[in-house]
Amino acid sequence: MTTRTRILTGITTTGTPHLGNYAGAIRPAIIASHDSNADSFYFLADYHALIKCDDPLRIQRSRLEIAATWLAGGLDVDRVTFYRQSDIPEIPELTWLLTCVAAKGLLNRAHAYKASVDKNIETGEDPDAGITMGLYSYPVLMAADILMFNAHKVPVGRDQIQHVEMARDIGQRFNHLFGQGKEFFTMPEALIEESVATLPGLDGRKMSKSYDNTIPLFSSAKEMKDAISRIVTDSRAPGEAKDPDNSHLFTLFQAFATPAQSDEFRSELLQGLGWGEAKNRLFQLLDSELGESRERYHQLIERPADLEDMLQLGAKKARSVATPFLHELREAVGLRSFVAQTQVAATTKKKAAKAARFVSFREDDGSFRFRLLAADGEQLLLSRNFADGKTAGQVTKQLQSGQALDVRSEDLSFSVWLEGERVADSPAFANSAARDAAIGALRVALTPVQE
Ligand code: TRP
Repeated sequence: MTTRTRILTGITTTGTPHLGNYAGAIRPAIIASHDSNADSFYFLADYHALIKCDDPLRIQRSRLEIAATWLAGGLDVDRVTFYRQSDIPEIPELTWLLTCVAAKGLLNRAHAYKASVDKNIETGEDPDAGITMGLYSYPVLMAADILMFNAHKVPVGRDQIQHVEMARDIGQRFNHLFGQGKEFFTMPEALIEESVATLPGLDGRKMSKSYDNTIPLFSSAKEMKDAISRIVTDSRAPGEAKDPDNSHLFTLFQAFATPAQSDEFRSELLQGLGWGEAKNRLFQLLDSELGESRERYHQLIERPADLEDMLQLGAKKARSVATPFLHELREAVGLRSFVAQTQVAATTKKKAAKAARFVSFREDDGSFRFRLLAADGEQLLLSRNFADGKTAGQVTKQLQSGQALDVRSEDLSFSVWLEGERVADSPAFANSAARDAAIGALRVALTPVQE
């Protein structure tokens, strides 16, 4: 069986993406999503945006622009799950469950919060001046983003590593308190792409909105050209040899050029190409690399209803994972229905676990399959066809290993996934309550029995 890695990352929706965001995060994420071993979840972290920004128009505008940027950049929404955080009500629900196990002392140590406190102390203010609970709880919300989907890898900037570590910490604590030997949550790992360029801005410092040194990405050719004309260079005149390795204009060029194009540009600079002409070359390169995407971007922005539809579909996909999983987590902490059916989890845990069984069989075509039957004989799962019995056996073993279960509901049935591959399906149930109860029974059945 191939192993698919679930990759998840969020983009805070407070600004308009610039060239640095594109080269540093958007482009690598889109490329990574083309890997057939990747099961990518990318989302607009618009709840996080509210922590930093109280301007509704800016929030709204930024969500639209970021969505359009990712799609124009070539994100394939059939391949990846692309959604808005605020379309997934399970995220704030999980945030609360996690808040109740997150140690306050852990959050006291968060860099972003600490920096604000330090600044207040420095300026003689009350230490908590201007600090909201949103800022303080930021890492818990982020932990919910990550743990909700059992992400393996979380591509982030260096400033976010601590938050991913906190997600592990909080997830582990939840597993320990409520998992009864089972790992509800996968432990995520931060993924820092060492090879990805941090682009220099117009003045040579890191390109960042806070330095006001950015080159726009998809605004217009003219605006891009204007920004490029403001790139700071040294004062060597045309005809004088330039030093490509100490020129951020060259670094910018390299980030979008083929090695052959870079070599050519380098030798031209060494031979005394004027800076004005060099800026022209950079503009031509960026325009040919990004011009088409820019056009797509403007088409998308002009059809917000289409973008809305795409994101609603993304939310539906994401919720097919989140809804049944959150149901399980609610059960685990004791938020259970009063109706007997869903109390299965609490009362017949051992019995169900003991009595549930896998039944293997062979199809006429020689392939191997299995069913999982609940204690009462009800069929919970029918597997897909496996080429050999060994693989089928491995799958049943893995399902019983106590690792985080990936169950996805769709209408009145659900499916079970292992490492990003669909391995088995449930029958269709009469209603969603029956479906959710069956998912509960499935979890119980697959929980290793502790003697
Ligand atoms: N905090 C991240 C940032 O500012 C954005 C984010 C929110 C995120 N939730 C996430 C990133 C979950 C990765 C995973 O960059």
